[in-house]
Formats: sequence, structure tokens, C-alpha cells
Amino acid sequence: MAYNLLQGKKGIIFGALNDKSIAWKVAQRAHEEGAQFVLTNAPLAMRMGEINKLAEECNAQVIPADATSVEDLQNLFTQSQEILGGKLDFVLHSIGMSPNVRKGKTYGDLNYEWFQKTLDVSALSFHKVMQVAEKQDAMNEWGSILALSYIAAQRSFPDYSDMAQAKAMLESIARSYGQRFGKLKKVRVNTISQSPTKTTAGTGVGGFDAFFEYADKMSPLGNASAEDCANYCITLFSDLTRLVTMQNLLHDGGFSSVGISEEIVNQMNK
Ligand code: NAI
Repeated sequence: MAYNLLQGKKGIIFGALNDKSIAWKVAQRAHEEGAQFVLTNAPLAMRMGEINKLAEECNAQVIPADATSVEDLQNLFTQSQEILGGKLDFVLHSIGMSPNVRKGKTYGDLNYEWFQKTLDVSALSFHKVMQVAEKQDAMNEWGSILALSYIAAQRSFPDYSDMAQAKAMLESIARSYGQRFGKLKKVRVNTISQSPTKTTAGTGVGGFDAFFEYADKMSPLGNASAEDCANYCITLFSDLTRLVTMQNLLHDGGFSSVGISEEIVNQMNK
């Protein structure tokens, strides 16, 4: 159901790779809610052309940008404001990648160049996005900037490897930049800490199926889906959440507050 929550709002959505992507669902919901936006992803991620289907569906233009390149981001923000005819009201950073996770390195055998790549792509890029937005004065007052995180920022999950550090940094950047952008332009900055979700990035983490099932059995409401996550993102881009900033917002069906659940006890007793 649509509520016109984003009528007249303009934005940039990073990270829609395919129809499983959380960013894909956010774009579809943002379109339903009346937003106009530009879609972007790394040039390499666009080679399958999937994003063009989404662009057509949402009447959006696509601008390639490697989120680690300040030059690409400058071009993206300049062009987006031209295309959309003004400043932006929302930005979604839905980006994550670890070469160490991809290549199955254990935590005691990390490649440090790859570690830096993990941090650059998955965390520092969020700072770059905001710094470019600030320097171009690209955000409207009461705008909203959002990134996606995971609870491994606070608790250890062995297979999440160096992505845990990236998420901790991402959440910290949201706090620091949130303070700055709030003072400067009344722009809010938050992260949503999402349940395990069956996407390309998610299922790339070792043991994903086991911890997806575990989280689902631990959470009184079950795992939050990508569609549910998109709904939450829409509320955070809307005017109904204008004073929420510098927060890491848990969107996990209750997982983070549970010690143990009956389902897990029953499983252990089998
Ligand atoms: P996804 O694989 O669909 O999206 C990840 C995106 O990052 C892709 O579109 C990819 O092209 C993009 N990307 C990678 N390197 C890039 C670069 N240099 N420049 C620009 N874009 C780049 O997977 P998903 O799950 O939708 O991931 C979105 C966000 O949600 C990520 O931050 C992820 O860590 C986070 N998240 C995912 C969870 C899951 O279980 N799937 C759980 C909690 C958070």
C-alpha cells in the first residue's frame, strides 16, 4: 500500500544489483511513494544490465559510480541534481563487499590490502558520499541519509570476518557525520541494522544458511525481509522521522534483545 510519503522528494539510491538486493526493494517502494531518484552502482556491477529493468520500472536514470572514488561521486552528485532539477532529500548507501570474505580467508589469515579494500568499499565510502554531498551543498534541509549495517558491528560472528570492523566503522561515521550534518543543514544520518537477508552479499558469507535459520528462530517476529527493510527505509526518508538522527536502528524482528528462545532450546534438546 502506498501513502505518498515521499511525494516531491528527490534522492540517490546506491547498491541495486539484482531483484534480491535491499536497494532494489527500496527503489520500488520509493517510486510507489512518489519519489524521484537516480540509481547508481559500481560500473562493474552493471555489466549484467539488470539495473536497467529497475530504472525503467521506476522511471529513473542510472549513473555508474564506484563509491570509493571521490571523482565518481562528485560526478554522480552533480549530474543527479541536474537530472532531478534540484537538491536532494534522501540518499541510501546500500553497499558492502569484503575480498577476504569472498575468497574465504579465515580471520587469522587476512590479507591486509583486502582488509583495507573492505573498509574503503563498505565504510569509508559512506563518509565520501556525505563529504561530497556537503561540499556541493547537495542536500535540502531536513534531508535523510541512510546506510545499512549488521549486528556483527557489536557482537562477534566468526564468518563475518573483516566486515564486522567495516560495519562498526560505518555506524561510527553515521554518528560523527550525523552531528555535523545536523548542525549544518538539519540533515539526519542513520544506519539500519538489518536481519540476515538472502541477497548476493548476504549469501556470500560462509555459513549463511545456518545463521539465517538461527536468527529466524531467535527472533520473536522472525527475520525481517528485504521488503520490510525497504518499508523501514521509506519511513526514515519521510517527514515522519525528522528528529531521528545519529542512530543505529535495529530492524531484526527482536533478535538483538533475545537471550535464548524456545525454538533454540527445543532444537538443542533433540
Ligand atoms: P547486494 O549484493 O545486493 O548489494 C551490495 C551492493 O554493493 C551491490 O549492488 C554491489 O554492486 C555494491 N557495491 C560493491 N562494491 C561497490 C563499489 N565499489 N561502489 C559502489 N557499489 C558497490 O546485497 P545486499 O544484502 O542488498 O547489501 C546491501 C547492504 O545491506 C550492504 O551494506 C550489506 O552489508 C547490508 N546488509 C545485508 C545483510 C544481508 O544479510 N544481506 C544484513 C545486514 C546488512
